Amino acid sequence: MKVIVCENYGEMSKEGAKIIAELLKEKPDCILGLATGSTPVGMYEELVKLNKAGEITFKNVSSFNLDEYYPLSPEHDQSYRYFMNKNLFDHIDIDKAKTRVPNGLAKDPAAEGESYDKAIDEAGGIDLQVLGVGQNGHIGFNEPEEELYVGTHLTSLTESTIEANSRFFASKSDVPTKAITIDMGSIMKAKRIIVLASGKNKHYVVSKMLDDRITTSVPATLLKLHGDVILICDKAAYEG
Ligand code: GLP
Repeated sequence: MKVIVCENYGEMSKEGAKIIAELLKEKPDCILGLATGSTPVGMYEELVKLNKAGEITFKNVSSFNLDEYYPLSPEHDQSYRYFMNKNLFDHIDIDKAKTRVPNGLAKDPAAEGESYDKAIDEAGGIDLQVLGVGQNGHIGFNEPEEELYVGTHLTSLTESTIEANSRFFASKSDVPTKAITIDMGSIMKAKRIIVLASGKNKHYVVSKMLDDRITTSVPATLLKLHGDVILICDKAAYEG
């Protein structure tokens, strides 16, 4: 795993945006795997700036997001579809019809999962997957567990994730307890992965990502099995 340690959040965001911008120039019709959470917001701002300055275009890009709360309407202001529109898609020249986020209102989540995986395969697979990490090491919503699921699936959030994500909702009881997430296998199939981590509270997971073990109790450690992962973190996450 390649590691880039940045001075602060702003630098980390610029590093991430630089890697995506390079890919867009090389492969204008690339398939991006995108993430939500507070961590990538700064990187999305950088991408918006580059797009508005005419340095990059998303015209031919397709994207797949990692996950979506369930059940939650795409119009809900805490849905990940809403987040992506607000933080990125509404401000760039991407064709929204080519952006996909799991349907948080799917009547049959298993069928939604199958169709999501099929769509990723048919698009030719993800060229670059952007990831943040949960404080407990979750990726997407693949939570620490003895056994992990294969394929996009409906999952239950752990108490600590509900607690961590409650800051975005009016109260903890408003946080959905379930989500549809792509699995670790789909993430590992991406040609390249960038992981962003910022702040002291990510130090535990960053240190687990950099030791010599893998464990499903910290799903982010599985990324060590991938041949092209770049961890971009700030000093606070790296040093603790
Ligand atoms: C959520 C998302 C993850 C994200 C994580 C960390 O639970 N499902 O994809 O990486 O939060 O969020 P933050 O970046 O806000 O710390």
